[in-house]
Amino acid sequence: MAVKGRILSGMRPTGRLHLGNWLGALSNWVRLQDEFECFYCIVDWHALATDYEDTSRVPERIREVLIDWLSAGLDPERSVLFVQSDVKEHAELHLLLSMLTPLSWVERVPTFKEQLRQLEGREIATYGMLGYPVLQTADILAYRADTVPVGEDQLPHLELAREIARRFNHLYGTVFPEPQGRLTEIPLVPGTDGRKMSKSYGNTIELADAPDEVRRKVQQMVTDPQRIRKSDPGRPEICTVYAFYKALAQRLPEVEERCRGARIGCVGCKKELGEVLSSLLEPVYHRRRELENNPGVLREILREGSRKAGEVARATLEECRRAMNLCGI
Ligand code: TRP
Ligand code: SF4
Repeated sequence: MAVKGRILSGMRPTGRLHLGNWLGALSNWVRLQDEFECFYCIVDWHALATDYEDTSRVPERIREVLIDWLSAGLDPERSVLFVQSDVKEHAELHLLLSMLTPLSWVERVPTFKEQLRQLEGREIATYGMLGYPVLQTADILAYRADTVPVGEDQLPHLELAREIARRFNHLYGTVFPEPQGRLTEIPLVPGTDGRKMSKSYGNTIELADAPDEVRRKVQQMVTDPQRIRKSDPGRPEICTVYAFYKALAQRLPEVEERCRGARIGCVGCKKELGEVLSSLLEPVYHRRRELENNPGVLREILREGSRKAGEVARATLEECRRAMNLCGI
């Protein structure tokens, strides 16, 4: 049998995931389980880069993300699901890599300046924030992952990871493969108000929403404002409901034709989308309910995950230390 490629990817624990996260990153991660050996990491140290001041909700957020992962279909029997801070080797490797990473490389990473601009006024221009992509590199290299599924915004981090791997290999002998980013095709998922779905806009449909809640949110969606009567022909291209069908890649010609031909009213059209979305999310919702009542199962999954991850990361670090002559005298 051909040796499977190895994937590592990470997600910051920022709370419950929404439909946009699911149709984008997460469903892709689920599919990749068939093809790769997968390590999926909840990167709580990375979350500190922006949220170090108030850490009170960290455990709750880790739990929420894990529940979302599992209910969306990440399978702890096939993939290693773990928390970054449970595997201390990430910190050691981050330190080692930081020594050989030129300051100019991290300073030019565009996400750094962007973050500072976006979160202006808060003291986040920290040492840790500058090192964020080096820590990410450590996450990836600790598993010698060859493939990293990410969104487009993360490509500069992947580029840096490759440069650091190359530099390490050049200085001390080859230990790391150069990880390749694998772009996730992210469909443009609108929020219920027609803007991009985003927690900061408060326009999300969450994986945790009950079917009734999903239907209710769909009823509130903004449609073509000029369609007042059912007999008015509609313009699907400016309608949020239609944009959802597009994101789902379902029933497009049919919805469009009925809308333009004024053969369905917006209330009915929304009702249908409500059914489509709530039945899509219903199994996820039920799995979540089961997991919520089972904290022991969650803890066991993470314990087993960090055991497996730790084994791999320890072996890598041993090799690193040997290559760098850090194994004692
Ligand atoms: N920086 C990534 C993000 O914000 C999260 C992340 C941390 C990550 N470590 C990683 C992604 C390793 C891929 C691989 O989305
Ligand atoms: Fe949107 Fe459907 Fe109304 Fe057309 S009929 S405007 S697609 S809700």
